[in-house]
Amino acid sequence: MASRRDVLRWGGRSAAWGLPLLAGLPADAKARSCDDPIIAANDRPLKEQAQRRGLLFGAAADRNTLEGNPRYAEAVAAECSMITPENSMKMERLRPAPKAFDFEHADWLVTFAEENGLLVHGHTLVWHLQLPGWLEEVVTKHNAERYLADHIQTVASRYAGRVRSWDVVNEAIEAGDGRGDGLRLSPWLRYLGTDYIELAFHMTRQVELNADLVYNDYGLEYEGDYFEQRRNHVLDLLAGLVAKGVPVDALGIQSHLSGDRQPNFERFARFLDDVRNLGLDIMITELDVRDRKLPADPAERDCRVADTYRAYLDVVLDNPNLRSIAVWGLSDRYSWLTEFEPRNDGKPVRPLPLDGDLKRKPAWHAISNALGG
Ligand code: XIL
Repeated sequence: MASRRDVLRWGGRSAAWGLPLLAGLPADAKARSCDDPIIAANDRPLKEQAQRRGLLFGAAADRNTLEGNPRYAEAVAAECSMITPENSMKMERLRPAPKAFDFEHADWLVTFAEENGLLVHGHTLVWHLQLPGWLEEVVTKHNAERYLADHIQTVASRYAGRVRSWDVVNEAIEAGDGRGDGLRLSPWLRYLGTDYIELAFHMTRQVELNADLVYNDYGLEYEGDYFEQRRNHVLDLLAGLVAKGVPVDALGIQSHLSGDRQPNFERFARFLDDVRNLGLDIMITELDVRDRKLPADPAERDCRVADTYRAYLDVVLDNPNLRSIAVWGLSDRYSWLTEFEPRNDGKPVRPLPLDGDLKRKPAWHAISNALGG
């Protein structure tokens, strides 16, 4: 049950009476004091807490970190029920040459998952980034469909029955690319036109009968024209796929959040309703909280990052079609943000549930409390 401190912190609900307490309190992390530590009511691993709600809890990882740091591998296996290959299933890694496949690292990861009782969320079959260098030289409008089919069918059939879900298409929307439909000018769009998305889903389903097929994207949570356009384009894209009977099962919401600003929760909740009304599931696929613009003090930063996790998960967990929550790395030691969004003061970033020594941070406790709430 939520403590009084939780209730004050979150404006949560009283479990005893089911009444909203302090219902008018905005979910504004900045307004709250960080003096009190956030302590989880339940210290069981997150996968167990998620399972009690019928959800999976996952993290992105890869061979280099898991094999290089056995304590990290243990932590991932202990906290998670699912794993996402952070890089090892991307085309750049799988396709050293036009006719060659290199499955060494992806196979290692899937075997690690199986040996540790973890499910696998495949990431990703079709994306505009991390493509092999040879692609632009070799692929043309005339042979692109063959390359796409060859790639998808070889990869998805190799892991058929061994992945629970696949990010079939990643990040196809970029309203700034100037098209009315908001589709990104990805190489695949240039080669194959807008049909590349539905083609990719059909090609995957042909060889993978059971996995959930996911459209995955980012930038869906915040206020402003940019985000509003992204939400609307993603919904239009999904509605079009569903209307045509394309085998898409879920929207993957990456959820790379910022600790220094508040999502527009009211609008985001409506967006999630719209996704559900299309008959699609929701997966949170790459959750983390950037702390680039937060104060240097680690305790203050951790508190604000934790508040961001909690407020976001409270909204997301309200959806009956939510299937999973995955973080993009489990420990601050292995976050992509170290490279991609470093702090100006040079201090290490702290965006994830465990710290660099694999100790549970306020963010872990906040996730636990959200799952228990
Ligand atoms: C990132 C990885 O974490 C980095 O290691 C890599 O250098 C670049 O890609 N959205 C996605 C992920 O869908 O694949 C990205 O992963 C992060 C943003």
